[in-house]
Amino acid sequence: MRVRRATRGDLDALVRLEAAFPGDRLSRASFARFIEGTSADVWVATARDDAGGEPGRDVVVGDAVVNYRRGFHAARLYSLVTDPAWQGRGVGRALMEAVEAHALERGLVSVRLEVRDDNARAIAFYRRLGYVDVGLTHDFYEDHSDALRMRKRLRADAAQLLAVPYHPQSLDFTCGPASLMMALRSLGHAEPLGQAEELALWREATTVFMLAGHGGTSAHGLAVAALRRGFAAEVWVDQAGPPFLDTVRSSEKKRVIELAHEGFVEALARLGGRVRVGDFGADDVVEQLRAGRVPLVLVSGARLYAERIPHWVVATGFDDDHLYVHDPHLPEGARRADGVHLPLRRADFAQVARYGRARHRALVVVWRPGGGRQTAGVSRGGARAPRAPLPGSG
Ligand SMILES: CC(C)(COP(=O)(O)OP(=O)(O)OC[C@H]1O[C@@H](n2cnc3c(N)ncnc32)[C@H](O)[C@@H]1OP(=O)(O)O)[C@@H](O)C(=O)NCCC(=O)NCCS
Repeated sequence: MRVRRATRGDLDALVRLEAAFPGDRLSRASFARFIEGTSADVWVATARDDAGGEPGRDVVVGDAVVNYRRGFHAARLYSLVTDPAWQGRGVGRALMEAVEAHALERGLVSVRLEVRDDNARAIAFYRRLGYVDVGLTHDFYEDHSDALRMRKRLRADAAQLLAVPYHPQSLDFTCGPASLMMALRSLGHAEPLGQAEELALWREATTVFMLAGHGGTSAHGLAVAALRRGFAAEVWVDQAGPPFLDTVRSSEKKRVIELAHEGFVEALARLGGRVRVGDFGADDVVEQLRAGRVPLVLVSGARLYAERIPHWVVATGFDDDHLYVHDPHLPEGARRADGVHLPLRRADFAQVARYGRARHRALVVVWRPGGGRQTAGVSRGGARAPRAPLPGSG
């Protein structure tokens, strides 16, 4: 048996194999897109045709489709299927070995997948290959059945992850509020992760204008909202002064952004929030995580989504080479699992954590006064592990 990349010549075989797939099947057009695009790989396993047909000819006996998400360092197994006549003969294993070996070559940290929670055979297969359960997503498939989310880490250096609940932003401009909600919730804030709180935070923290649409939220605004809820917060910026001014043209809008900013600066001082002005890097973020504090990081939408927008994510953990983040923005067609603990190379931090021509850099660090680490537990190797302080962080 051999595993190789699929070509357009395999389309007939791929579509035929899909018949063996339970539920949501991939169309010919989707396969063609995956084969030709750069955001996915399609692998096929071929073997000598030993059951009729033309003896001695290689036929496709299984396939695996893997997606990659721009900017992040995890692979997602989108589909895996072995021809029923060939199941139990090592085809699935060989395909997964190719998927994982290639993911490692790309420097990726993990492979994630979703599998129907009633597909006992596939679940047993993935467990056998070292995949562990990371959660259940309700109503995942077309027929409303649930999906078990599984993941395998490809590297030995286990990540240290904070237990941060996930909340996707419900509007284009609420990445900041959604990120802050996740951070505060992980620190013990009782407010439910709903749209009402998201809007309340946005109204408190928005710069009013940004680009052509509604204003997003600034580091200063988010820090004020955290302080008002009884949390400690610090703003880290590389330059003093109002952010995002160069995203709007009219002087009237610029003036409004300045006024909003002045209000935040005043409120921050009144509520005891600190502002640090100076450059910072991935190591600083890691240091804050080690102390049980939760950093929100301003990142470049251009780097992650090819969209020129400033964007907030929550840092949730680290390993030797990566920072992990919850990203509140789910691209079209993505599911919650696509937003959780996404690895970002620490070496890329300087390019990713900045916005605009001015290369503005901003962080908001939040924690519980009197010691955030008691509540924001760091676990080794998975969000589901028991909450425990990081050894050596005290
Ligand atoms: C899941 C699937 C891809 C497995 O492929 P396969 O080619 O039959 O699996 P392999 O023969 O490579 O088996 C690999 C390992 O998993 C184990 N395994 C396979 N099926 C198993 C089962 N039902 N229970 C326990 N272990 C199982 C095998 O024993 C083998 O372990 P080993 O190599 O140490 O002996 C295949 O059953 C399939 O195509 N199912 C239909 C489509 C599907 O459900 N896809 C997954 C959706 S996410």
